[in-house]
Amino acid sequence: MAEASFRMVLQQCVSILMVARLQGRVTAPERLQAPVERPFTLSCSLIRDRGAEALTQVRWLDVQNQTLLTYRPGDPDSVSGQQHVELAASPRDTSAITIKRVGFRDEGCYTCIFHLQAAGSQQGTTCLTVNSRITADANQTAVSGKQATLSCSYGLPEKVQQVRWRHTSGQGESREVASYAKRSDPMIEPPFQGRVWLSASLSHSQLTIQPVAIQDEGCYTCLYETHREGPRSSTVCLSTYVLPKPQVSYKTVSPGVIEANCTALSRPPAEIVWNVERDNRTMGPPVTVQQSHADGTTLVVSTLTVQSALLKDVSIKCLVHHRGLESAIAVSMNTKIGTALAILISVTTVAALLVMALCICLWKCFLHKDAE
Ligand SMILES: *[C@@H]1O[C@H](CO)[C@@H](O)[C@H](O)[C@H]1NC(C)=O
Ligand SMILES: *[C@@H]1O[C@H](CO)[C@@H](O)[C@H](O)[C@H]1NC(C)=O
Ligand SMILES: *[C@@H]1O[C@H](CO)[C@@H](O)[C@H](O)[C@H]1NC(C)=O
Ligand SMILES: *[C@@H]1O[C@H](CO)[C@@H](O)[C@H](O)[C@H]1NC(C)=O
Repeated sequence: MAEASFRMVLQQCVSILMVARLQGRVTAPERLQAPVERPFTLSCSLIRDRGAEALTQVRWLDVQNQTLLTYRPGDPDSVSGQQHVELAASPRDTSAITIKRVGFRDEGCYTCIFHLQAAGSQQGTTCLTVNSRITADANQTAVSGKQATLSCSYGLPEKVQQVRWRHTSGQGESREVASYAKRSDPMIEPPFQGRVWLSASLSHSQLTIQPVAIQDEGCYTCLYETHREGPRSSTVCLSTYVLPKPQVSYKTVSPGVIEANCTALSRPPAEIVWNVERDNRTMGPPVTVQQSHADGTTLVVSTLTVQSALLKDVSIKCLVHHRGLESAIAVSMNTKIGTALAILISVTTVAALLVMALCICLWKCFLHKDAE
């Protein structure tokens, strides 16, 4: 009798357990990618069969199987957990938590456990991979002879073994410039030694070139060799400028006619315009010729032919525009200096005459005295 009732109880227990097993299951994404340094939300859903029991508690475990957060559904005061996570809004029977700022240490598997009244618990697991994008500078320009700094950043230096920089010229030739591996010194390839430096950092890699040469132009690729995720790279391109130092020269080509040249050697070619103050006594528009040099620079010569009378009346300027300059460089034809020279000559002449007059006067005075 006792044995029979014990058997019945046992049977009932087993059937309750079996029903409980059927009462719900938890679904959670198996794998997720979370970008570093951003908030990320994980969620699990309980799928219940009909007549399921009430949900009493939800518990989240972190990658170390430590409690991350627990709460009783429908009771906001019951939420307790670690600082860096918070409960996110979610529909009924779904639980979501937000990691406020994902870091390298947040990578791993998370478990959500749904406790059902009397019927035990159901759980789900999601494994998180933390990733980061490589961000490079925007394209840059540098003035030849000055300094250029190119940089790339990667948010997960813990995953990086080595960062390498390659240069690809406009002609498509590619070669290694420098590299930096964990626990070693930055390495600069021999052709670049002495004018290229690399920072000893895996998170923020900075390549500095000084002085910049024309042939440094091209694209630079920073290549991050990472554990598991394989190589990742980004590219930044550098243009090198040679700034113009314009000059104006002129000569008289026929009586009353002057030919003026404004020359500018630069990279890329400069644009030359003439500014002749509201006067059109020029003999036609300026003539511009370009000459490319093997070193990558271009000589631009703009020739303007004017009536020499114009030089006395108005200022004539050559304006040189270049992408590397904030404003155009203006070079005046020496009209103003001519006037200054004229004034100087007159002043000197007057002074000389005065001195002579004084001398004569003094000499006469002495002679007069001697005679007395
Ligand atoms: C967490 O627990 C699961 C089993 O529940 C186990 O497979 C895993 O290795 C544990 N993780 C850690 C970090 O202890
Ligand atoms: C940088 O320059 C390269 C080549 O000049 C070009 O292909 C690329 O689109 C540029 N990138 C940006 C962000 O402007
Ligand atoms: C101006 O440049 C041209 C060549 O472009 C040259 O033939 C001419 O002699 C130059 N004139 C002056 C005044 O320098
Ligand atoms: C420019 O020259 C033309 C004749 O070549 C003349 O008709 C015009 O008035 C002149 N303009 C100025 C601003 O001097």
